[in-house]
Amino acid sequence: MNKLWGGRFTKPTDRLVEEYTASINFDKALAEEDIQGSLAHVAMLGKCGIIPQEDADTIAEGLIKVLHKIEAGQVEFSVSDEDIHMNIEKHLIEEVGPVGGKLHTGRSRNDQVATDMHLYLRSRVVELTGLVQAVQQALLDQAKQHTDTILPGYTHLQRAQPILFAHHLLAYVSMFQRDAERLMDSYKRINILPLGAGALAGTTFPIDRHFVAEQLGFDGVYENSLDAVSDRDFILEFLAGASILMMHMSRLCEEMVLWSSTEFGFVELDDAFCTGSSIMPQKKNPDVAELVRGKTGRVYGNLMGLLTVLKSLPLAYNKDMQEDKEGMFDTVATLDGALRLFAPMIATMKVRTGRMREAVNKDFSNATDIADFLVGKGLPFRQAHEVIGKTVLYCIENGKYLLDLSLDEFKSFSDLFDEKIYAVLQPENVVNARNVYGGTAAPQVEAAIGRAETTLGWT
Ligand code: ARG
Repeated sequence: MNKLWGGRFTKPTDRLVEEYTASINFDKALAEEDIQGSLAHVAMLGKCGIIPQEDADTIAEGLIKVLHKIEAGQVEFSVSDEDIHMNIEKHLIEEVGPVGGKLHTGRSRNDQVATDMHLYLRSRVVELTGLVQAVQQALLDQAKQHTDTILPGYTHLQRAQPILFAHHLLAYVSMFQRDAERLMDSYKRINILPLGAGALAGTTFPIDRHFVAEQLGFDGVYENSLDAVSDRDFILEFLAGASILMMHMSRLCEEMVLWSSTEFGFVELDDAFCTGSSIMPQKKNPDVAELVRGKTGRVYGNLMGLLTVLKSLPLAYNKDMQEDKEGMFDTVATLDGALRLFAPMIATMKVRTGRMREAVNKDFSNATDIADFLVGKGLPFRQAHEVIGKTVLYCIENGKYLLDLSLDEFKSFSDLFDEKIYAVLQPENVVNARNVYGGTAAPQVEAAIGRAETTLGWT
C-alpha cells in the first residue's frame, strides 16, 4: 500500500512478491552512502535552480535527521518499501512533508543504486588495502628476525634446496603487494560517478553531473548513460582481486597448517590464535588458518555468482542486478575478518629454528650444489647430475647424508671431487651461493627486505 510508484496500479502488491523482490534486508548496509549521494544530488538541484534553494535546504536537513535516526537505530525499515532508497525517501517525506518528494527529481533508482555501490566500495577498497599492508608488515617483521634461519625449500612438497626463512616470507610480501596494487588499481574505475544517467537515457532536467562528482569526490562521470546504470565491472574487479588475495592467504594458511603439525614442527602458532578439541585434551588446532583457507571458497563463489548474473543481461538495468549486493557485502566482510586476524597471527607465530635446521641437515637439498661443483670442474651438467644421482642413491642405501661421506667415497663416484666439497655442502654456503637478484643468498635477502620496506611506505 502507498507505494512511491503506486499511481499506475489498481491492486496492492502480493505480499509474497513484496518479500521476494525486496532488498531492504541487505541493502540497508548502504544507508549512509544513499544519504551521502542524495545530499550531493539535492545540493545540485538547488544550485541549478531545478528546485527552489530553500526546498533543497529543507530536504538536506531532513536527510541528515533521517541519517541520525538510522544511526541511533530509531528507523524501522519496511519490506513494503522494497529497498534502502525508497525506505529513506519515505522517511524523508515523513520528516519534512511533501517537499521531500522533490528529492527524486532528475534521478532514477538505477543511477542512484549504482552511485551508492561506487561510494560503498570506494571506501572499503581503501580500508582493505590498509589491512593487506598490515599483513605485509607482520611478514616483513618476521622476515627481519630470520635472515639466518635456514629451512628446506620445497618443490612437489619434497625437499628441494635450502633457503632462508626470510626469503620464504618475502615471497608472500610480494604476493600481497600485487594484491594491494590490484585493489588500488580497481579504485580508478570505482571512483567514477554514474548519477545523472537517470533510468538509462539521461534526464530532461538541466543537471550538473560534474558538480555532483566534485561534491562526492569522484574523479569523473560515466561517459555513457546506458553504461553508467548497466556497469557492474567495478564490483567484478573487486571480487576478482579479492579472490586472488584469498587464494594467496589460503596458500599461506596451508603452509601454517603443515608447519604447525608435529610432522613438520617448523612453527608454533600462539595459543590465542588456536582452538582446542572437545574430546582430545592434547589438541591445539590451527582453526583460523583452516577457516581462512575454507572461506576462500565463498569469495570465489561470489565472483562466479556475479559473473553468471551479468552474463547475457541486455542493457540497461534489469532486476537481476539486485543480486550484485550480497556477494559484495559478504566478500568485504570475509576479507576484513581474515586480514584482521592474519597480521597478529603471523606476528605472534613462534619459529622453531632448531627443527628447521634439523630438516635441512637430514636431507639431500645440497645435492644440486655438488652437481654444480663438478660442472665447475668442467663436467657437463647432465653427466654431473647422473654422478650425484648415483651418490645420493649410495647414501640412501647406506643410511648416510652427503656430508657423512669420506673423500674416498666421493672419489669412487668421480675423481673430480676434492676437499672443497665439504664447504660447498654446508647449508649456509648452499644458501649464499644463490647470490642473484631475487635469490636466497643472505645479502640478496637483506637487500630485498630494504626494498620491501621502501615499497610498503608507498601510500
Ligand atoms: N533495489 C534495486 C537494486 O538493488 C534498486 C534499483 C531498482 N530499480 C528498479 N528500476 N527497480 O538493484
